[in-house]
Amino acid sequence: MTNSSERILILDFGSQVTQLIARRVRENGVYSEIRPFNISDAEIEAFGAKAIILSGGPASVHESFSPKASDVVWKLGVPVLGICYGEQLICQQLGGKVEPSTHREFGRANVEIAEDSALFDGVWKKGEQRQVWMSHGDRVTALPDGFKVIAKTPSAPYAAIANEEKKYYGVQFHPEVVHTPEGGQLLKNFTHKIAGCKGDWTMAGFKQSMMDKIRAQVGDKKVLCAVSGGVDSSVVAGLLHEALGDQVICIFINTGLLRMGEPEQVEKLFKDHFHMPLIHVDASAIFLGRLAGVSDPERKRKIIGETFIEIFEKEVEEVGGAAPQDIQFLAQGTLYPDVIESISFTSGTPSVTIKSHHNVGGLPERMKMALVEPLRELFKDEVRELGRELGMPDTMVGRHPFPGPGLAIRIPGEITQEKIEILQKADAIYIEEIRNSGLYKEIWQAFAVLLPVRSVGVMGDARTYEYVCALRAVTSTDGMTADYYHFDHTFLSRVSNRIVGEVRGINRMVYDITSKPPGTIEWE
Ligand code: XMP
Repeated sequence: MTNSSERILILDFGSQVTQLIARRVRENGVYSEIRPFNISDAEIEAFGAKAIILSGGPASVHESFSPKASDVVWKLGVPVLGICYGEQLICQQLGGKVEPSTHREFGRANVEIAEDSALFDGVWKKGEQRQVWMSHGDRVTALPDGFKVIAKTPSAPYAAIANEEKKYYGVQFHPEVVHTPEGGQLLKNFTHKIAGCKGDWTMAGFKQSMMDKIRAQVGDKKVLCAVSGGVDSSVVAGLLHEALGDQVICIFINTGLLRMGEPEQVEKLFKDHFHMPLIHVDASAIFLGRLAGVSDPERKRKIIGETFIEIFEKEVEEVGGAAPQDIQFLAQGTLYPDVIESISFTSGTPSVTIKSHHNVGGLPERMKMALVEPLRELFKDEVRELGRELGMPDTMVGRHPFPGPGLAIRIPGEITQEKIEILQKADAIYIEEIRNSGLYKEIWQAFAVLLPVRSVGVMGDARTYEYVCALRAVTSTDGMTADYYHFDHTFLSRVSNRIVGEVRGINRMVYDITSKPPGTIEWE
């Protein structure tokens, strides 16, 4: 799906950073999609790529199972860029030679530009030294016919190669990561100068073509949309409403585990910005009742997930009324990173479950509904841009991620209404101070956690015996890894004084300085 006919196909060979290739290409205004390396020839042909990028990957071309690029890649007559493992494939599959090497090198390096090339045009010149993020295991030892070396390092004599006539390029380094500072410009040279793309992919165009697609898929039927208050589900609702008007039924289930003022903000967004009806189900008493006495984190998550589905199903029956057959679609805010399947060359098995995430993903199978997933092709920052296109206020589109199980996983141990209220107040003060200090955008996620520990304190002349509250703030790009945020002490003192002074029930503050790994972002 794209508003432009210019599409770049990225064949994924399992690199950790393949998603970044897609992002860089899209940032340059060209639509790109990642597909597993082993999609069929027909799919490759049908994609209609202006150019193909072969990603890096953990395999060695010498292993017993070493994934190959289909021959159809070389028959389409489009430019090809091979990155890292992709470069080795170009060499091996087009008649060069790649030899095993005993060690793998990964890290910053300086390449020397050996030849001017279309790939380097306007960015790097012959004779210059430039910083790249290098990665090489196997070594290219002979080039296929028609290729020449365009950049080298002492340990990687084939750091970049080119067949300018065929428009095939290979780089041993990773242009998609920030540690290759001019990497984005090299990718732009590949897509714009070499493949001839104009770079006219825009979010406004995406929105228009996605609305056409939604209309074609849904026809005159009805679509259900579960709204959580988060960015993704709100953007889905807004987009569907613009495309389908009152064929969209939005249900907001208030679990009672939301942040302070959140249900009201959701109501306001739908009323004032989208001008669309919202079915607001206050199920907080049910959730709290079922969570009473439960302190195991996984049990909490399961209870919340199951209760959510149960209530949603009941609501659907009610709104379906006499014509349930009219509701055939369920909208979901699935994002591109959830869609891309990463390929495990080693174990072939799914990775261990650290936490069972809760979203509405369990619904469709049981409910026999087809899915409408208009964000499937977008990254999180692109969803935010789409939200802005839809006129959503910045305070809404720029919000930090919030987990499905809500405050339940920020109250280790047993959950009570009293604890929820204490946490909501502390969290609101913390976020207000972060916003006032202009730090909100720098931080990926910030929140307060109410610990199941009481400590003794003294306020005025009186003894207190109240809860301990932990503050958490992390920087991250995707939530997979994270660093704790380094606040200055004045900020932490101010927040701490305000929370202890203003929130009854908390008399001690701590700041969490654990990164991920070894910690996780949430406490449960
Ligand atoms: P962890 O705690 O696993 O969190 O480091 C990584 C990111 O995921 C969010 N998170 C969730 N999101 N349902 C969600 O929709 C969940 O069950 C869930 N658990 C964690 C978390 O807030 C962080 O952004």
